[in-house]
Amino acid sequence: MSDKMKGVEPAKSELSPKPREQWGSRFGFVVATAGSAVGLGNIMKFPYMTGKNGGAAFLLVYIIVMCAVGIPMLLCDFLIGRNGKSNQVASYRKLTGNNKFTWMGYLGIFSGLLALSYYAVFGGWMLYYMVKSFGQLSHLTTSDEVGAFFSSFVSSVWGPLFGTLIFLLLTMYIVTGGVQKGIERASKIMMPVLLAILVVLIFRALTLPGALEGINFYLKPDFSAINFSVVAAAVGQVFFSLNVGTTGMVNYGSYLSDEENVPKATAYVALTDFAIAFFAGLIVIPSAFAFGLDPGQGPALLFVTMPSLFAKMPAGGLFCFLFFVLLLFASLTSSVSILEIFVPFVSETWPEKFTRKKASLLGTIICMILAIPVSFSFGIWGDVRIFGMDIFSLYDNFICIIAFPLIALSTAIIVGWIWGKENVKNAITNHGTLSNRVNNLWFILVRFVCPVLLLIVLLTGFGVIK
Ligand code: ALA
Repeated sequence: MSDKMKGVEPAKSELSPKPREQWGSRFGFVVATAGSAVGLGNIMKFPYMTGKNGGAAFLLVYIIVMCAVGIPMLLCDFLIGRNGKSNQVASYRKLTGNNKFTWMGYLGIFSGLLALSYYAVFGGWMLYYMVKSFGQLSHLTTSDEVGAFFSSFVSSVWGPLFGTLIFLLLTMYIVTGGVQKGIERASKIMMPVLLAILVVLIFRALTLPGALEGINFYLKPDFSAINFSVVAAAVGQVFFSLNVGTTGMVNYGSYLSDEENVPKATAYVALTDFAIAFFAGLIVIPSAFAFGLDPGQGPALLFVTMPSLFAKMPAGGLFCFLFFVLLLFASLTSSVSILEIFVPFVSETWPEKFTRKKASLLGTIICMILAIPVSFSFGIWGDVRIFGMDIFSLYDNFICIIAFPLIALSTAIIVGWIWGKENVKNAITNHGTLSNRVNNLWFILVRFVCPVLLLIVLLTGFGVIK
């Protein structure tokens, strides 16, 4: 390690007062981290982003971006976290030996709060659907009826806000339970069940009359649909889905033991994340075509398509309930990891003022306040436009097309150009005790490919290229 690397250690107040907790096992880490990655981003957002950006062309770009940028950057985040063994701001400081990159930690924390605020709004919708699955929802038979039910709920004032609050309180409750107890236990049970129910739903969706057109749209690429905006959208979606660029995975990595084979764990997490997104697309897009819905209509897509699909199944009410319960758990494991971006930073930076509990409460209050305009943007503030965007799109574009790529670009610079190949190799192989097969290709991607791609995304985000 060079002198520079040893340089500035995290401020004493930023280090945990006791040794950092660690994941119980590799399985625990992978399931909890995949749990943090898999959520509404995969099941709700991926299908409509695919619908909006050219179908199979987007899927193809998504896969390339996942391999060329998503996985390499996820590995960077885990390594930075494991090296820092502290919150993200302190980890960047420890690694670079100065304060030049700590802004990334702050931007990550802010973006995380913004992301959680809209995430919680959708979480609230899910709670409502769960409660209504055996009641009102089970009497609706056409997608028009489901659409009207959805619109009337999301455009109201108090119901969605109440749902948002409950979702945030549930998230806070899990976060204050501690890393292993709270997150690992829930994820280990819920993830496999979610996967199983998705497989059942794929069969139903693919056998709907009229689904074939949707299958073609999803799986047969029209290459002329690919442009810089599609690439930027794919990068934003990959980052949102893998939690890359939020600095959240730096935190998760900080709980990793030195003996863990990080590239392997990274590959498992990314594969699970992709599989669930792909399956969700395979359900939602063909169903949307079968029901004559616009596959690129945004967050409404899932909430209108799925109940319309359940209406065509025996025991539809039960499936509907199960689906939204599982989606709720998948979303909670993600929202927990987003709140986890904020909590250790606050409680480790100001330990005398903020316990974990108080820091969680503060994060929850901030998110609730930020969520109000998002919730209203689907109703009474539906006509409000800022920079030509509605409020939800403003939050979403800011974090996915500007903040996450900016943080990821800096991460690539830190790991590829500042940390130094020898140090990075030591970090991956735990000083030569673990295998080193992915090192060279990965390092080239991080050093050259990721920065160029991320620069293109940022220039697209700022409207310089289209
Ligand atoms: N990565 C989380 C999701 O995709 C935020 O839902």
